[in-house]
Amino acid sequence: MKIFHVIFCFLFYLPVALLAQTFGNVTHERLMDESDGKNWLSWGRTYKEQRFSPLTQINEDNVDSLGLAWYFDLDTFRGVEGTPIVVDGVMYLTSAWTMTYALDAKTGELLWEYDPQTPREWGRYACCGPVSRGLAVWEGVVIIGTLDGRLIGLDAATGEEIWVAQTTDKEWPYTITGAPRVFNGTVIVGNGGADFGVRGMVTAWDAHTGAFKWRFYTVPGNPADGFENDAMRMAAETWTGEWWTLGGGGTVWDSIVYDPDLNLVYIGTGNGSPLAVEFRSPGGGDNLFLASIVALDLDTGDYVWHYQEVPGEKWDYTATQPMMLAELELYGEMRKVIMQAPKNGFFYVLDRATGELLSAREFVPNTWASHIDMLTGRPVINPDADFGTESAFFTPGPGGGHNWEPMSYSPLTGLVYFTVQEDWISLSVAREFTPKKFRSNPAWGFETDPAKRAEYNRLMIERREAWLTAWDPVRQREAWRVPHSDVGSGGALATAGNIVVQGSIDRDFVIYRATDGEKLWSMPIQTVALAGPISYEVDGEQYIAVNAGWGGGRAIVARASGNNFPISPARTLVFKLGATGQLPPMETLTQQMPEQPPPVTASEDEIQAGARLFNETCARCHGQDAVGGQKDLRFLSADSHRNFNTVVLEGTLVEKGMAAFDDILSTSDVNAIHAYVIARANESWGVDMPPVEEDE
Ligand code: HEC
Repeated sequence: MKIFHVIFCFLFYLPVALLAQTFGNVTHERLMDESDGKNWLSWGRTYKEQRFSPLTQINEDNVDSLGLAWYFDLDTFRGVEGTPIVVDGVMYLTSAWTMTYALDAKTGELLWEYDPQTPREWGRYACCGPVSRGLAVWEGVVIIGTLDGRLIGLDAATGEEIWVAQTTDKEWPYTITGAPRVFNGTVIVGNGGADFGVRGMVTAWDAHTGAFKWRFYTVPGNPADGFENDAMRMAAETWTGEWWTLGGGGTVWDSIVYDPDLNLVYIGTGNGSPLAVEFRSPGGGDNLFLASIVALDLDTGDYVWHYQEVPGEKWDYTATQPMMLAELELYGEMRKVIMQAPKNGFFYVLDRATGELLSAREFVPNTWASHIDMLTGRPVINPDADFGTESAFFTPGPGGGHNWEPMSYSPLTGLVYFTVQEDWISLSVAREFTPKKFRSNPAWGFETDPAKRAEYNRLMIERREAWLTAWDPVRQREAWRVPHSDVGSGGALATAGNIVVQGSIDRDFVIYRATDGEKLWSMPIQTVALAGPISYEVDGEQYIAVNAGWGGGRAIVARASGNNFPISPARTLVFKLGATGQLPPMETLTQQMPEQPPPVTASEDEIQAGARLFNETCARCHGQDAVGGQKDLRFLSADSHRNFNTVVLEGTLVEKGMAAFDDILSTSDVNAIHAYVIARANESWGVDMPPVEEDE
């Protein structure tokens, strides 16, 4: 028996163990080890997702000799939001459309790449670009999620497919943009899609085989179909009307964290579908579990507790933003907490065993709610921000006081670092609304009085501010801030070298002193590094890395300067002390000032109809009011004007991410949209046409 066992081990387990050791050796034990700074084993480095590196070789005293060690071209001009993972000298990362790469973390040499063949037409259902916020690695398997809802397990050594699981029902416009997480062998993945109408959920899978384990819906389905569990029965009491027809929303599109001691998974849930509660749940109600943090049992997916940040959510205040676990001394007692700085502008600290609200304080000017009532845990909403068919002007807007940009907590300084924006908006509820599946479905209206609208637009730009904050979560106040020139800067990394690292909207990669925010170093990187930077060590040398590529939601909504600079291709950038690497001369995607746009010939009615259709269907990629976006359509060439209908109805540019819309638009709809685009181009000519920068 024994000898047989030894031979068996030798023949089977040993080679497997060797392989697992060489590539993608991420285990529960390794993830529990906070002190291992050499690796960056999961999205937020460890289960706690503090994004704090204990490495000190690069520090406040020597960062001035930091330089570019290597870079890797990601072959896209689309937004890149993924955090790389580094395991024993190998870097794994995802780019737009979940293109996946394994690189030598020391040299940048490509070890393998994997193209999941994401159908470009599915790009229509991503609110904010075909982004991927990252991947997971577990015991030799690299796990990625694709926009069309597939979860794929790849061999960490070769990039070959081991398993594929379709995690969503493709009869609904679900997407995956968040990084899948693996907790003790169980993969947890959520979705996007609430802006188009889906029923939010998280699903659990076996990391080695891709076998299904469990599913937890975040909102109840049609009661006539029966409830999946008691949590859904409880949640259904807080809804009215026929909310399930558009799914209800509550998608878990980014943050998922795990506490191994409690064996609890924490999910952050998103907005409702449609956003306007008047059409979603006409009798009102809290609409559980929208805009909530929900704790689930890892093994069963059973509900354990929830805390709803925004009862009756209708402002697009998702609670999907990054969460992190920490131990904080509060009122003289050590507490195991979960922290979040969600869109609604309050910094929350909760007890992670019970969900008890410990504190909440605004981190950005906030006219939505005066405070969070500590007895009930509910926000005290300012009636002026409680819009109906009459519009309200308030902050934070749907872009949030802080969004998905990763935040970092340094246990050494006791501060949480993240990018913040003051972003005003005017909103109202649409007067009429017909829900349509597969369409953007906010059911919002906008200010119709032109004078008021102009005034709001002026104030929106005047009051727009952004900065990097260092937030003290115990005292619930800001320790320091560094102003940014505009919204759109990236995620943060803090290290034990007393530094904070962040990509800025000015296309610099910047290092600040963690204790006081003094700028210590910066380097121009041609594009904006939105994603979270990481740090790791190979052969005794410390590296700092980031995926840099401007795009995503910010680029779509940024109006003034943000998205109009030339865009350079996305790259993985890696820095170390004493390196002197250079980026190649800037190759850019510029928006050339074309010929004079065609004259306006359509009637005002047709243009207005086109405006409505444009803002409903095209604005999420071509900019609100046809300003900015993935491609600013006011810049169309004469050729593109001629091809307008073919592009929009037949999908001739689908490979670039421009799907066909013939399933929801008629020729006369497209004519109206085209008329509107022409009108906007003529209106903008010389007025707010963004400046076209010269290549640098
Ligand atoms: C999901 C994102 C998305 C949506 C929604 C979208 N587009 Fe596009 N569109 C793109 C992308 C990406 C391109 C290609 C840009 C490029 O050339 O790199 C594009 C290109 C175009 C072009 C060609 C531009 C040129 O220079 O030739 C036209 C015209 C266009 N879109 C019109 C529309 C209209 C009209 C709508 C709404 C019905 C719409 N698009 C909705 C992403 C989108």
